[in-house]
Amino acid sequence: MMALAEDTVQYLRSLERPAAVAVIGASGGIGGAIVDALAADRGIARIWAASRREIEHPSKQVHPLALDLTEEATIARAAEQIAAAGEPLDLVFVATGMLHDGDSLRPEKTWRTLDPDVLRRSFDVNCIGPALVAKHFLPLLRRDRKAVFSALSARVGSIGDNQLGGWYGYRASKAALNMMIRTLAIELARRNSSAVCVGLHPGTVDTDLSRPFQRGVAAERLFPAEQAAHQLLTVIDNLSSQSSGRLFAWDGSEIPF
Ligand SMILES: NC(=O)c1ccc[n+]([C@@H]2O[C@H](COP(=O)([O-])OP(=O)(O)OC[C@H]3O[C@@H](n4cnc5c(N)ncnc54)[C@H](OP(=O)(O)O)[C@@H]3O)[C@@H](O)[C@H]2O)c1
Repeated sequence: MMALAEDTVQYLRSLERPAAVAVIGASGGIGGAIVDALAADRGIARIWAASRREIEHPSKQVHPLALDLTEEATIARAAEQIAAAGEPLDLVFVATGMLHDGDSLRPEKTWRTLDPDVLRRSFDVNCIGPALVAKHFLPLLRRDRKAVFSALSARVGSIGDNQLGGWYGYRASKAALNMMIRTLAIELARRNSSAVCVGLHPGTVDTDLSRPFQRGVAAERLFPAEQAAHQLLTVIDNLSSQSSGRLFAWDGSEIPF
């Protein structure tokens, strides 16, 4: 866990401040960096930090919660705990995801290795889990001004952008997540017109997820997690209601589905 930085940077200036934020996947490389960045900003009143194993954090703003994406009851329970605090959320940031499991589950290079169990796990973590987070957390978003639901997707989930092939389960589950985001955004516009629902591509970030695949990535294109967090929070700050249902990269550019 990074030492708390000085209170110089202000994030989420387009949202209500002091803001209340939920980070799902707070134990991850990017999720942890988002929690650290927001915890260093005194304008963020409360950070609900949800993860499979509850994290510890030195900041009093951070409230750990237990949540496993593959157990809907834990998602519902985490949302109930937040609702019980009686304050709406300004931002939900879903930072979970899986490309490999550090063991036998590796992204496929060929159709010959397609395995139904691996495909199911990819869809469970990368698409169904975030969709269930949306089910239980979208109703918690503030309704009287801009609020954001964002989920980390990936450029490789873009069907239009797929020139290389491979990584079947990861690509397909992220493409399915992108469709969830578009569909959630349409319903959200009817229920909470000031809220925005987007997918975000963080770039290649130096975390456990990308570590086996970093060879060939130019040093200036391999972002430290702290930098990725700063970039993604800036993208979120620049979102408007027209952004909803779309996928944005770390530099604010839109990625076609
Ligand atoms: N790093 C990159 O270069 C890169 C590039 C493009 C997109 N992304 C996307 O960015 C997101 C975050 O990636 P990262 O690099 O930060 O990866 P990471 O460090 O491996 O973090 C992944 C997070 O997902 C959580 N998670 C996995 N399965 C879960 C489950 N069943 N229930 C609850 N949490 C679960 C992990 O929890 P545990 O700690 O409990 O395992 C961890 O907090 C992913 O969606 C990834 O696809 C990353």
